[in-house]
Amino acid sequence: MTTPPSIAVLVGSLRKGSFTKRVAQALIKLSPGGLKYEIVEIGGLPLFNQDLDDEAAPPAAWTAFREKILSVDAVLFVTPEYNRSVPAPLKNAIDVGSRPYGKSVWNGKPAAVVSVSPGAVGGFGANHHLRQSLVFLNMPTLQQPEAYLGNAAKMIADDFTVVAEPTREFLRGFMTAFEKWIAKIVAG
Ligand SMILES: Cc1cc2nc3c(=O)[nH]c(=O)nc-3n(C[C@H](O)[C@H](O)[C@H](O)COP(=O)(O)O)c2cc1C
Repeated sequence: MTTPPSIAVLVGSLRKGSFTKRVAQALIKLSPGGLKYEIVEIGGLPLFNQDLDDEAAPPAAWTAFREKILSVDAVLFVTPEYNRSVPAPLKNAIDVGSRPYGKSVWNGKPAAVVSVSPGAVGGFGANHHLRQSLVFLNMPTLQQPEAYLGNAAKMIADDFTVVAEPTREFLRGFMTAFEKWIAKIVAG
């Protein structure tokens, strides 16, 4: 484990004004243990195509992304929901990191999932579709508390504080549980 533990934050929206990105920033701000969080950009990753690994040098952006994920201790996924599932850029990043076969950079890394939506349901479908991939990728994923953040359009202020106190305390508790989970998994 690096000291302090380092966490890659993957945001499933590429949108400039993304509500999800604001939630990710707010979560980082709520880290109780001062761990080292870094939002890792996924928008520049070429679409996964196995030929690029098999026949030539893989795209530099894939290599850099794989090295970055390999170097961290844990991964926090913060994602919107597209058509009741995971947005394509995030699924692409997961696929890129999972290959070449036998060299997945995700293997064994503790993870947590937060889904975000301006709607009422809070991205439940995306959250659980993502969890399905994390099972296969052997990423021990925080089970409780679950985080389905609905009505998120005005949830986070411009300074990345969580506006409503009950939501702020819920998210602080979520981050506390996540950091304990990382320590537990990494300690074996
Ligand atoms: C292609 C597409 C599909 C969407 N499907 C859903 C959906 O299944 N559930 C939902 O709650 N919102 C859905 N939305 C609305 C998004 O929640 C909304 O655009 C949100 O702002 C996206 O997150 P962001 O603000 O972080 O970019 C969809 C939006 C798009 C563009």
